[in-house]
Amino acid sequence: MFFFPLQQEKYFLKNYNLEIENLAKTVALGVKIAMTEQNFEGVQTALDFAKADKRMRFVALVQNDTGAEPVVLNIYPENYPWVPAGTLSDSLIVKQAPFDVGDLKGNVVIGFTTDEITKNMKDIRLTALLVSLVVFAFGILIGFWLARTISKPVLALRDAAIKVGSGDFSPRVKAGTKDEIGELSNAFNKMVTDLAAAEEKVKKAQDQLVQQEKMASLGQLTAGIAHEIQNPLNFVNNFSELSVELLDELEQEKDPETIRSIIGDLKVNVDKIQHHGKRADNIVKGMLMHSRAGGTEKQKADLNLLIEEFLNLAYLGMRSTDTSFNCTVEKHFDPELKPFDMQPQELSRVFLNLFNNSFYAIHEKSVSEKSQNRNFSPHVTVSTKKVGASILITIKDNGPGIPDDVRDKIFNPFFTTKPTGKGTGLGLSMSYDIIVKGHGGNIKVDSEAGKFTEFTIELPHAS
Ligand SMILES: Nc1ncnc2c1ncn2[C@@H]1O[C@H](COP(=O)(O)OP(=O)(O)OP(=O)(O)O)[C@@H](O)[C@H]1O
Ligand SMILES: [Mg+2]
Repeated sequence: MFFFPLQQEKYFLKNYNLEIENLAKTVALGVKIAMTEQNFEGVQTALDFAKADKRMRFVALVQNDTGAEPVVLNIYPENYPWVPAGTLSDSLIVKQAPFDVGDLKGNVVIGFTTDEITKNMKDIRLTALLVSLVVFAFGILIGFWLARTISKPVLALRDAAIKVGSGDFSPRVKAGTKDEIGELSNAFNKMVTDLAAAEEKVKKAQDQLVQQEKMASLGQLTAGIAHEIQNPLNFVNNFSELSVELLDELEQEKDPETIRSIIGDLKVNVDKIQHHGKRADNIVKGMLMHSRAGGTEKQKADLNLLIEEFLNLAYLGMRSTDTSFNCTVEKHFDPELKPFDMQPQELSRVFLNLFNNSFYAIHEKSVSEKSQNRNFSPHVTVSTKKVGASILITIKDNGPGIPDDVRDKIFNPFFTTKPTGKGTGLGLSMSYDIIVKGHGGNIKVDSEAGKFTEFTIELPHAS
């Protein structure tokens, strides 16, 4: 806005100066010719040439050969205060041209007004301002147009993308134009539709996996329970077989003394059968309680008993898959712990998973240590302790541990390092939900690769 007017002004000024200088030269030449011919009218005519210009302020003939002060020979208008060439002034430009006629040397000095130049400059500035305003207005219009056709749809796309990013697949953008933005909008809409469909599929797959996980943990549980029932059943079978033999003997026996003794033995056997039958009955009842639906309601339960029960089940479950499996289990149960409100079925799933994880880890380690002929004594420590208003439960094993880069992920759903079919990776994420969301507690892990893994559960006692 300022550069071009300034350039224009400079250009004007230069031309104006040149014009005046040329005029001075022309007049000086006329003066010289006239003077050489001693034609004084000619001198006047030459000076008139300059006077004719409207922009002229003065024209002077100055003698300059005496070496002293220049002498004004002639000036128009008369008595005008003469100024030498090169004088700087806002209203005047003064130029001179020399003439030389034998013994008379001097200058023709012309003063021209700068009014016209100033006016021109003002005009230029005004025009420049007007042009700038027009360009500016035009720029604003283009800006509006761009905003309508580009920014608005792009912003709409951005907002929709943010919503989609946060899991809401409902937004679609209007694809009004047929340009790149329109194409982008169409592509975006298609992407969101595909994403929604994909998410739907993933959800279905997840549901299926959760179901599988439940079945798998039930499978482990059943294996443990079957093992547990097998034991009393063996007793029942053995004692009833023995009793049948005793009855056979009794049929043959005549001696009243021996008969009494056999009857005594039979009584003991029947007692034992009854005792072990009751044991099996209890186990089945426990299993029924565990598998009963709607296990999320809270009820008073003994945490120590619950933990012990599922520790045994997990251990038996592990032994049912590998009969050579062995592990020292150390228990430190806080005797002060009274039954309190909890979701026992849910918590039992947590403990079953933690114990299964530990036994699995220990089993892996003992297999690998054995293959390298190294000694390894598997060890699991379980403890409960009431600390203030909380109960701390720790489960520690001396298995392979969890490497640092894996530790952050173990609570993620579907994270597993077990081979396909052995684990779904839902155990810990389910445990986390049950402890944190279901009981308002906390579950943490501490581990050193190659040394140990320790899970600590904190349950508020009031829960
Ligand atoms: N005691 C442990 N020692 C070593 N690694 C463990 C232990 N507990 C858990 N992990 C690691 O955490 C991962 C996730 O455990 P999580 O219980 O969530 O799933 P999973 O046991 O692999 O499968 P699922 O429990 O569904 O059968 C395991 O695959 C394992 O890598
Ligand atoms: Mg698990």
